[in-house]
Amino acid sequence: MKREMIIAGNWKSNGTLALRAEINNLLNDTNIEQGITVVVCPPVTLLEGMISDNKNPSISFGGQNLAEYGQGAYTGEVHAQMLRDIGANYVIIGHSERREYFSEKAEILAIKMLKAIDAGLKPIFCIGEPESIRENGEQNQYIESQIEEIIAITGIDVWAESILAYEPIWAIGTGKTASLDQVQEMHAHIRDTFSKHSDTIAALLPILYGGSVNQNNAAQLFTAVDVDGALIGGASLKQDQFAAIISAANAEANSN
Ligand code: PGA
Repeated sequence: MKREMIIAGNWKSNGTLALRAEINNLLNDTNIEQGITVVVCPPVTLLEGMISDNKNPSISFGGQNLAEYGQGAYTGEVHAQMLRDIGANYVIIGHSERREYFSEKAEILAIKMLKAIDAGLKPIFCIGEPESIRENGEQNQYIESQIEEIIAITGIDVWAESILAYEPIWAIGTGKTASLDQVQEMHAHIRDTFSKHSDTIAALLPILYGGSVNQNNAAQLFTAVDVDGALIGGASLKQDQFAAIISAANAEANSN
């Protein structure tokens, strides 16, 4: 079964109006093959401007977070419908940095997922193990628990509208990418875990890899059967690198 391929850029707390203009120009001139969606998630300050300046229908945009609340007196928060209102179609939920620095646990992440889906946003839900778990060889069990704890609250059906990103914490921003075998093995394990709930959803779920993806390793990662794209941090801020990763996805799409 052919799944959609997604190349998502997570700018984190980076980016200025100058970078926004640079990346908008790059994306407006970038050829993107059918079956590939590029999703850019800049900080919320740049989101509306990027969406307005985008002329490439293969590019979508997303938030990096959303409020667990709706409209109302929640100073500093941005809720799901506000993201939809400006034209965002995606939102990252459960990134390890949110889990670590903002203490976001499954209960909150599940509320955010449901709010996103209700508003018509596709969640890009992140999971991943810390280095100590990988060193002890307990990564499969750890990842399975992360999936089971969220499905226990959201139910399985919302996952038909969602994307999963596997991001081993030890590979994020470290330059240490997981090997092709480690990535394929984990993605297959993730798909198996979902298939205990629904074979159809498991087969269709796009599973992205994240963690030091760059222009040198992207092409190889995209060859893995259960890798449906990437969530890219650092390299999504560099025009030439982001363009090279998109080209690697195009090449993979053309080779099938
Ligand atoms: P990185 O970040 O590509 O800079 O490792 C990935 C992420 O945190 O999504």
